[in-house]
Amino acid sequence: METDKESIIKTIPQKGFFGHPKGLATLFSIEFWERFSYYGMRAVLLYYIYYETTKGGLGLDKATATSIMSIYGSLVYMSTIAGGWLADRILGSRSTIIMGGVLIALGHVALSFPGSVPALFISMALIILGSGILKPNLSSIVGDLYTKEDYRRDAGFSIFYTGANAGALIAPLVVGTIGQTYNFHLGFSIAAIGMFIGLIWYIITSKKTLGQAGRYVPNPIGKEEKTKIIKGFSIGAIILAVILVYSIATGLLTINRFTFVVSILGIVIPTIYFLVMYNSKKTTKVEKSRLLAYIPLFITAIAFWSIQEQGSTIFARIADEQTQLSIGSFAIKSSWFQSINPFYIVFLAPLFAVMWTKWGKKQPSTPVKFSIGVILAGASFLLMVIPFSASGGSAISPIWLVFSFLLVTLGELFLSPVGASATTKLAPAAFASQTMSVWYLSNASAQAINAQLVKLYSVDTQIIYFTVIGIVSIGIGILLLFLSKKIHGLMRGID
Ligand code: GLN
Ligand code: ALA
Repeated sequence: METDKESIIKTIPQKGFFGHPKGLATLFSIEFWERFSYYGMRAVLLYYIYYETTKGGLGLDKATATSIMSIYGSLVYMSTIAGGWLADRILGSRSTIIMGGVLIALGHVALSFPGSVPALFISMALIILGSGILKPNLSSIVGDLYTKEDYRRDAGFSIFYTGANAGALIAPLVVGTIGQTYNFHLGFSIAAIGMFIGLIWYIITSKKTLGQAGRYVPNPIGKEEKTKIIKGFSIGAIILAVILVYSIATGLLTINRFTFVVSILGIVIPTIYFLVMYNSKKTTKVEKSRLLAYIPLFITAIAFWSIQEQGSTIFARIADEQTQLSIGSFAIKSSWFQSINPFYIVFLAPLFAVMWTKWGKKQPSTPVKFSIGVILAGASFLLMVIPFSASGGSAISPIWLVFSFLLVTLGELFLSPVGASATTKLAPAAFASQTMSVWYLSNASAQAINAQLVKLYSVDTQIIYFTVIGIVSIGIGILLLFLSKKIHGLMRGID
């Protein structure tokens, strides 16, 4: 059955939230709380994993802890593929979102009680599944609120994006402060409460505000296909379970080996995705050209997210171990540094929106914006070489982190919103339901690579670490700048 998007839009109240559909407030609120719980948890999780048991942590070594954070982040974004598929073929977005929210909240509950490494892994598994199925579907319902021609559409997405960052901004100040002042588990339970509040509010308000949006299954699986899929899944699950039990029992499965496998997947999955999209009979010639243009953009996005995501791993370690954490008599918590990036986004995103509108048609093309984004990210790493070269091992001023985060976040404003929208325009129509997941895959690959990269970081290697990654990223940016005309041509009429 072909779903008529226009008739669905008629069921959605079109006003009620600053000139936008009321439903945007519902989606803003659940995105806020979901990101609150996610980033709140991440602001203290690294410390929880590597702090000594006497300080309430799990006592793992720092390199492993940092690598776990990256692999975790990677899987969260990788699993969005499953979320897109589940909504598209079986459940529809609305039910998928509720399922995702419940899994996430349970994941935070799993860390709310004193536990050990297995509790951490159970929590991670629940949150990976939950965010994977919730995140892409929230963004897709935002799109469902407006017709394609609605002039409010882009503004709607940027309001939604502000919701994510507002949640990410407040979370470290609440969850971080409680987690680091009282104990980690109390912090995680605040994350759980946040997700529950968001979910309940969503369930109450969505009935009135979202109409029929996300209630339909766009591309339902047929009966025959269903049996095939159930068979395939069951066999896959059994094989996976046997491998898991066997490898855990024999000690074959170590954290390092698991991380290595996910790192490989981070490269293999997007490669397969591109090959399938490119070779599909449904992909037209023009779409193939656009896909070719998308590849260098995707690689640049990986380089960008690799640096951006180290804000919650390597920079979190620097904040905790090598930064002056008091201003006069005022003590700063290391988790608060995680608020800096979303703070900049919340306050600068409106400026960028105005700037793009003012520039109108004269604004730089997508490839140029991407190269500026990754060059700024590279610069944020190079900046850190200065304090570390000069400090001679003593703690550095927090100002360095504040400025480094400013550079990378300016880059994020050039690249991230543009990247999401370029993905929707450049992906072949037949794969429309998976476009958000394709975009999130750039982050997944970045963190899959980070899981190996961060192992090279230590206080002894940090100057060379920041120099090399900074220069490589700037190099990628310059190369893209050179290629930008050619890529823009391949985009066939899309800016
Ligand atoms: N910080 C962004 C978010 O949490 C990252 C999303 C992305 O990778 N595109 O929504
Ligand atoms: N800046 C991060 C994201 O866009 C927090 O949500």
